[in-house]
Amino acid sequence: MGKQFYITTAIDYTNGAPHIGHAYEKILADTMARFKRLAGSEVYFLSGLDQHGQKVQLSAEKAGVTPEVFVREVSDRFIALWDRLNVRPDGWVETTDVRHKRVVQDMLQQLFDEGQIYKKSLRGWYSVRQEQFLNEKDREADGSWGGQWGLVEEREEENYYFRLSDHTAWLRGYLETHPDMIYPANRQTQLLNAVKDSEGMDLCISRPKSRLTWGIPLPFDDDYVTFVWFDALTNYASFAGFRDREPEVSGLPRWEDLWPCDAHVIGKDILIPAHGIYWPIMLHACGVPDEQMPKILVHGWWNMKGKKVSKSEKIEDDAVVKVIADLVDPNAIADVVGADGLRYFLLADIATGGDSDISEERILVRYNKDLADILGNLLNRTLNMARKYLGGTLVATTHDSELHAGLREAVVALPGKALGHMKTWQIHQVLADIIDGARLANEFVDKTAPFKLAKDPANADAVASIMRHVAEAMAHFSVMLSPAMPETAARIQGQLNWVPPVGLTLGDLRWGMLPDGHVLGEPQPLFPKVQVAAAG
Ligand code: MSP
Repeated sequence: MGKQFYITTAIDYTNGAPHIGHAYEKILADTMARFKRLAGSEVYFLSGLDQHGQKVQLSAEKAGVTPEVFVREVSDRFIALWDRLNVRPDGWVETTDVRHKRVVQDMLQQLFDEGQIYKKSLRGWYSVRQEQFLNEKDREADGSWGGQWGLVEEREEENYYFRLSDHTAWLRGYLETHPDMIYPANRQTQLLNAVKDSEGMDLCISRPKSRLTWGIPLPFDDDYVTFVWFDALTNYASFAGFRDREPEVSGLPRWEDLWPCDAHVIGKDILIPAHGIYWPIMLHACGVPDEQMPKILVHGWWNMKGKKVSKSEKIEDDAVVKVIADLVDPNAIADVVGADGLRYFLLADIATGGDSDISEERILVRYNKDLADILGNLLNRTLNMARKYLGGTLVATTHDSELHAGLREAVVALPGKALGHMKTWQIHQVLADIIDGARLANEFVDKTAPFKLAKDPANADAVASIMRHVAEAMAHFSVMLSPAMPETAARIQGQLNWVPPVGLTLGDLRWGMLPDGHVLGEPQPLFPKVQVAAAG
């Protein structure tokens, strides 16, 4: 097998329920993977869960169960959600997996043996509430510690440190000579500045078991567990077959087929320092060459009333009419607009790299207008008219006009435009073009008016040609939509009674895929309207 296009997502903390921030990232990466496949690439998509660390240990304590039990229960909620939303990774990460632990320990042992890890005692300011040592940078302008840190006391602790500082000059040079490591480019500039600021700093990679037990034990000192970021970042390699000692039986992919990663899909909060500094330096320190450094795609945040949606903070939305029970819960949104309604909203209403605000109104406008009024309506009226005027069968026609040509041209241009947008993963533009195409097809029907023409049998060829055009356009839309809305694509194809050829790629899309004599299927509403009751 040749090199596969390798996409990963951040692995989500299993310290609570999944929210729309998590869902967005997984849907984005899933759509990228499906799109790449449709464009003809072999793709491996890896996603999963970050199960260790202080946050998880604390949540388990609060819930009064062991971390193992807690993590299983939360992990299963994530798994059920991705299943419902048709997020279909090829590989699944759980950091409690022994195959992963072995690789983390292997890397740590190598770094320790090479003298890249050392032990030292540090006296510093420790936040009891956040369970971490603080830097001078964490102080408020007046020199005090902010309320978010709770009780802050001076403590002394021995820990292991990784000589990050030995490699920051290398990272600087790498970033300067590889300006396309991070997308969007402004994030790479930010990162470069952060690297300059971090020079001279090493990374504490251990936590004493006296305060954290829920982690991977250090292979060279059993009194400590591994700092959760060192553990978590390694997933991208361990689940890609890095240093796999039992390739015949491990069930993991082959490192040579996957690495380097073509897109680590992450949110902007975890670029600096984790993915932008620690991760490339960890790889470099373990001997991964420059030409095998991964690429990173940084997306923005879903906010509510301007504030990041997160687990810790509940923000009340002020929708006048509450149709969606909980706006940050992906399940609650899917209950109202379906899995694809949610996928469509999260992909169409944000530009990749930027932020966006979620509101009930935006979700329902996107659903009722774009999906129900434009796309669903087009399919429904096409199938109904075709039944009424043609008995549901598409026949050979000769009638043509500028309007027909305009629709054909717009539809066949979609794959090329999409490939252009997807060079920078601008999925919202791909979707906007498809919806514009469907809008144009609706206008085409309005203007050519088959419902009027059909009154005179002399117009039979003209009517048949109009139907043929809209049905064919719909077949194209279904393929173009399939990465973002896989269920909808299948439902449209079901109603068209059309199965795309196996292995069809974007480059194979041609006008005329529905053959002469093709019999269309039964019309069924694709997106039943969600009624928004009047306020008051
Ligand atoms: N466990 C770490 C990542 C380890 S990766 C080796 C973590 N987990 S997280 O659950 O807090 O976040 C997982 C991903 O969801 C991150 O990429 C984060 O940026 C993303 N999001 C979390 N909230 C978000 C929004 N409100 N909006 C968009 N994505 C955000 O960080």
